[in-house]
Amino acid sequence: MKFSFVSDKIPSTGAIVATVTDGGQLSTTAQQFDNKTGGALNRAINSSSFKGKKGELLEILAPSGIENSRIILAGLGNPNELKATDFENLGGQLYKDLSAKGEKVVCFCADDASVQGASGDNAGALIAYGALLRSYRFDTYKTTSKNDTKNSLDEFSVFSADSASTESAYTELSKVAEGVFFTRQLVSEPPNELYPATFAAQAKELESLGVKVTVLDESDITKLGMNALYAVGMGSERESKVVIMEWNGASEKSTEKPLAFVGKGVTFDTGGISLKPAAGMEDMKFDMGGAGTVFGLMKALAGRKAKVNVVGACGLVENMPSANAQRPGDIVKSYSGKTIEVLNTDAEGRLVLADVLSYTQEKYNPRLVIDLATLTGAMIIALGNDIAGIFSNNDTLCEQLSSAGLSVDERVWRLPLADCYDKLLDCDAADMKNIGGRAAGSITAAQFLQRFIDKDRPWVHIDIAGVAWATKEKAIAAKGATGFGVRLLDRFVADNYED
Ligand code: BES
Ligand code: ZN
Ligand code: ZN
Repeated sequence: MKFSFVSDKIPSTGAIVATVTDGGQLSTTAQQFDNKTGGALNRAINSSSFKGKKGELLEILAPSGIENSRIILAGLGNPNELKATDFENLGGQLYKDLSAKGEKVVCFCADDASVQGASGDNAGALIAYGALLRSYRFDTYKTTSKNDTKNSLDEFSVFSADSASTESAYTELSKVAEGVFFTRQLVSEPPNELYPATFAAQAKELESLGVKVTVLDESDITKLGMNALYAVGMGSERESKVVIMEWNGASEKSTEKPLAFVGKGVTFDTGGISLKPAAGMEDMKFDMGGAGTVFGLMKALAGRKAKVNVVGACGLVENMPSANAQRPGDIVKSYSGKTIEVLNTDAEGRLVLADVLSYTQEKYNPRLVIDLATLTGAMIIALGNDIAGIFSNNDTLCEQLSSAGLSVDERVWRLPLADCYDKLLDCDAADMKNIGGRAAGSITAAQFLQRFIDKDRPWVHIDIAGVAWATKEKAIAAKGATGFGVRLLDRFVADNYED
């Protein structure tokens, strides 16, 4: 879709969107169109149940007096209550609605003070951003009918008083959208195409943005002693990889240590010898969602040249049953030196993360570590598919994440960590076992990770098992891979850690 930004003249063809606030109050442009069309807008409002409430749309087709195909009135509700996400959602809603109607060209009129919302956001930019986010489709493997794409909007323009500032706000946001799309694409790829080597190769795309990429292969992994990660990949024909991405955007004089983001990248999780049931196993292609989010975040931060130093580290493995696979009962020595009895080979994500977490802390001494993982099915039972669980040793980080989550509508909710959960991992044969029993499954998984976090290192674990993939569409995302976490962490960085 092509985006453009204008302030001199509203296009005289295609669809027009003008806004209406509570009680049917027309914006300046809406009023002008009402005049030009002999009062068609007010007549349409009076003949319908449209009240200008947030989320309401009213269409006036082929109005006389003008050449435009249609005027859409978009309700904003009370302008003093409008948040940035309301504008994004409106953009997404318009994209979906107009595409379904076969419309190709639209101009959104953001000329009025009532379209600025409570926080003075650039509404025009946010609406374009929402439409952009909603426009993503994964159709790489459709060779015959790319039906959806045929019927979609081609051109989205925004009319505003200051088109230059709307455009520059949009350009910044579009870099974040590119990160979200990168994640959605990686998570959508089928597991025969996306496996550790091909996944790692995708990181190379980030080099052109100035990201330094290092890929460790199995010989490096075994030499370094990342045996817990290595053991997960033993059953697979595909070689495991560890990808390290560094973005150094902070000013030269900054002495701050980097922020570290660590991702679980299990490109397919069969469960291994502790095999999962067949029904629904195909979902486990998205078990690399944590790593997918770290890749997308790096793309967003580098794309918008964020003034911060960040390292992204991902463990990429395929968890398969085979003659070479690890067995329940195996004891592995992790990179940290701690030993783990693997009682269930399906609790593999924590084994992968354990080694990448230890390595990242040792090598980069980061000022904080945030890991992302589709770690436990229990997370979906606890919080469902809209809110991700967070687990942390640091209250400030949790507050920063909660607040970023509310700003971008990628919400998180904190669950507890405590010694009573930690001790469920104690083990007779080794330093710990990799499962803690049925109770509090997401918490014991987080406790396992915490055993690999240095004392005093600020750390958050985000379990995205429920939110990485959506079976229902949302205003700014079609069904499928959501890219959850990219916007959340981009905002978390922007609000708290940039120079
Ligand atoms: N990748 C799964 C978790 C998962 C399940 C994510 C469903 C998304 C949807 C993880 O590796 C796993 O299998 N966890 C086990 C842990 C158990 C064996 C302790 C689980 O959640 O059942
Ligand atoms: Zn598993
Ligand atoms: Zn898994």
